[in-house]
Amino acid sequence: MNHWASVTNGHSARTILVTGGAGYIGSHCSLQLLLAGYKVVIIDNLSNASDEAVRRVGDLAGKYKKNLYFYKVDLCDKESLERMFLAQRFDAVIHFAGLKAVGESVAKPLLYYCNNLVGTLNLMDVMTKHNCKKLVFSSSATVYGQPKTVPCTETFPLDVLNPYGRTKLYIEQICRDLYAADTGWQIILLRYFNPVGAHPSGHIGEDPRGIPNNLMPFVQQVAVGRRPELTVFGNDYPTRDGTGVRDYIHVVDLATGHIAAVEKLFKSGSTGACDVYNLGTGRGTSVLEMVAAFEKACGKKIPLKIAGRRPGDCSEIYASTEKAEKELGWKARYGIDEMARDQWNWASKNPYGYVYEEENNHTECKAYSN
Ligand code: NAD
Ligand code: UFG
Repeated sequence: MNHWASVTNGHSARTILVTGGAGYIGSHCSLQLLLAGYKVVIIDNLSNASDEAVRRVGDLAGKYKKNLYFYKVDLCDKESLERMFLAQRFDAVIHFAGLKAVGESVAKPLLYYCNNLVGTLNLMDVMTKHNCKKLVFSSSATVYGQPKTVPCTETFPLDVLNPYGRTKLYIEQICRDLYAADTGWQIILLRYFNPVGAHPSGHIGEDPRGIPNNLMPFVQQVAVGRRPELTVFGNDYPTRDGTGVRDYIHVVDLATGHIAAVEKLFKSGSTGACDVYNLGTGRGTSVLEMVAAFEKACGKKIPLKIAGRRPGDCSEIYASTEKAEKELGWKARYGIDEMARDQWNWASKNPYGYVYEEENNHTECKAYSN
């Protein structure tokens, strides 16, 4: 799948560099970009993904498969990144690549600061050198910390509780500084709420390595018999049923949100900016409601064990979607039943995910270790 110089310039299709495109959200977004007619160049170090995901994106893209390219590149390896930009002109970059496990970030803060921050700084520096100044960045609702009220609007105060969240907050700030210094940049920061589900084909989906940190991948692994029960973290929150409330969003909706963002960057007359948008549904769902939706989809009972609250969790968070609706012309279409249906379809067809050949070893960050 490595076609170094075969990506041709001067083609009418716009070329988007997708960092972390072999991952969960990046693979779904790459597919939507291809179907929308873009050329997609994925770079990923495969530290938390399989290149099988990229192959399947190509298969799902049908006649657009020819517009998909993949390179195994680590963003911390600036020379390789530089070679990518020398070989190809990119019209915009969607930057998904990063480590994302909250607990791991607490245990290994340097790994997170190094990978996420150094990787992003390298990317921005190379983009600057090559005059590629359109960027969409994967931020997170984690930057709202424990919001005092809901729904969260983009103007809420920011407050992060762990090193992972701080990498998002710092990168957001770096983007704002970059734009302040050079108003030629067009940057969109997308704050995702809780992405779940899978492509309706069941061919691509989320495939976390090790014990899943997040609710739905865990529920899915209980349903296929890989884990005996789901531990519910807290049933004494001031919510409808005492369990935590989140804004779950179908990953395909999230992907179309990125298409809307990219289109905004290319809109004629659009000028420099650093804008931020929530990508959520605007609806809150409790842990027990989510489990019930999944049980309905899979026709099985999910055994539960109630435990204490998970440190750092907020009781309730969901998005205000007004700004994205108004300025991106985007709105999530799917509800929790479709999310559960598609997640189960993926899980039942791929109970062990993409099946990794290699052990999960995070690539050491060269910029840090050298
Ligand atoms: P993912 O782990 O599936 O995808 C991230 C990809 O980045 C992986 O394929 C990984 O191999 C790659 N990667 C990591 N470090 C890299 C590096 N130095 N160089 C090249 N590739 C590298 O995660 P995801 O769920 O698809 O998340 C994508 C982005 O969205 C991340 O930045 C994440 O923090 C953010 N986000 C995710 C969620 C969520 O709940 N999934 C919520 C909010 C924000
Ligand atoms: N939960 C359980 N049991 C589990 C896992 C989760 O009860 O095994 C509960 C949590 O306590 C929470 C809800 O399910 O109430 C959702 O938890 P997730 O871990 O799935 O999601 P979070 O909202 O805690 O965090 C996720 C990502 C963060 C991201 C945030 C906002 O992990 O990285 O969404 O986008 F920042």
